[in-house]
Amino acid sequence: MWSPNHPPRAIAIDGPAASGKSSVGQRLARHLGYLYFDTGVMYRAVAFLAHEQHIPPDDAERLGALARTVRLDVLPAPEPPHYAVRADGRDITWALRLPEVEATVSAVSAHPSVRAALTEQQRRVGRQGRVVMVGRDIGTVVMPEAEFKVYLDASPEERARRRYAELQARGEPVSYEAVLAAVRERDHLDSTRETAPLTRAPDAIYVDTTHLSLDEVIAHLLNCIERGSPSPSSGKGGPPS
Ligand code: CDP
Ligand code: CDP
Repeated sequence: MWSPNHPPRAIAIDGPAASGKSSVGQRLARHLGYLYFDTGVMYRAVAFLAHEQHIPPDDAERLGALARTVRLDVLPAPEPPHYAVRADGRDITWALRLPEVEATVSAVSAHPSVRAALTEQQRRVGRQGRVVMVGRDIGTVVMPEAEFKVYLDASPEERARRRYAELQARGEPVSYEAVLAAVRERDHLDSTRETAPLTRAPDAIYVDTTHLSLDEVIAHLLNCIERGSPSPSSGKGGPPS
């Protein structure tokens, strides 16, 4: 069991797009003085490089070779989004939210060859401990041994609303309906793929954040850590349907 003086060594946060994984993960990591590691950016990096090199999202062999050979560095950065991603030394952080990446990343990440290469690198980071790692398969596949697992969720409409607000703030011309359709499509691909699909680990705390602010989610999770209770039944909301 853990306590504020002995927090869990490794924290795994999974959930669908815009459920709050990055925001919650970053704040928890800052609070605990842990490394924050967003595994999604690695899949996005491979999707971007594939797009650049004209590798189709269904070419498992070339995508696997790309994921195995490229050197990806994910470094903390002072400015939002608070990380920098380098591929063979080149900064590609700016490219990871491009619509081309958004449209292909789920197909690219479904290939076992791609997942094997990236999962291995993620496990290496996880083994160092004192880490908050976020993604889709962290509590189930990458760090099943993590002492504290969280599954964040929210309705597709609320998640699309959050993404839409972010895109609006960045001045990107896109409709709410298009964002909702993209969110639903990615949910579907991520949760139905054969290898490491998005699913809640049985021992993960489930939090439905549809009607919760970020502060409320953080307070709830810190409360769970303080109580030393990893019990899934202590989570807010029920299991995903
Ligand atoms: O931020 P958002 O939740 O929208 O996406 P992300 O975490 O950056 O992940 C982008 C995509 O990468 C996801 O839709 C998944 O297809 C894939 N991914 C994955 O398969 N496994 C992970 N551990 C992380 C991301
Ligand atoms: O990493 P993921 O895609 O799961 O989500 P995120 O990027 O952390 O959150 C998406 C957006 O929703 C951010 O702008 C958050 O500030 C916002 N958010 C929110 O308004 N309320 C929450 N309970 C969680 C996130």
